[in-house]
Amino acid sequence: MIGPAYKAVAERYAKDEAAVTKLSEKVVKGGGGSWGETPMPAQASVTPAEAETLVKWILSLQ
Ligand code: HEM
Repeated sequence: MIGPAYKAVAERYAKDEAAVTKLSEKVVKGGGGSWGETPMPAQASVTPAEAETLVKWILSLQ
């Protein structure tokens, strides 16, 4: 398995109001350093609007 569990992501950012913007950008552009050594690759076929929808869903998981 690669990447953090979505529930763990939701827990970490529960009180972070900038999370949707920050994480949506990371889904599209990729990036690393938040959970471990492995970076997340950019998702070139995901639009910023789709990324925002996905991130809002991920953050709704409790
Ligand atoms: C549309 C598909 C995807 C979505 C919505 C998504 C979403 C996310 C989110 C919200 C995070 C947390 C970022 C943070 O806390 O800064 C994350 C981290 C991560 N994801 Fe994904 N991801 C996707 C696809 C992938 C794929 C395809 C891979 C690997 C093949 C991957 C690997 C990772 C890794 C390794 C991390 C941890 C990065 C770090 O330590 O900063 N993700 N992902």
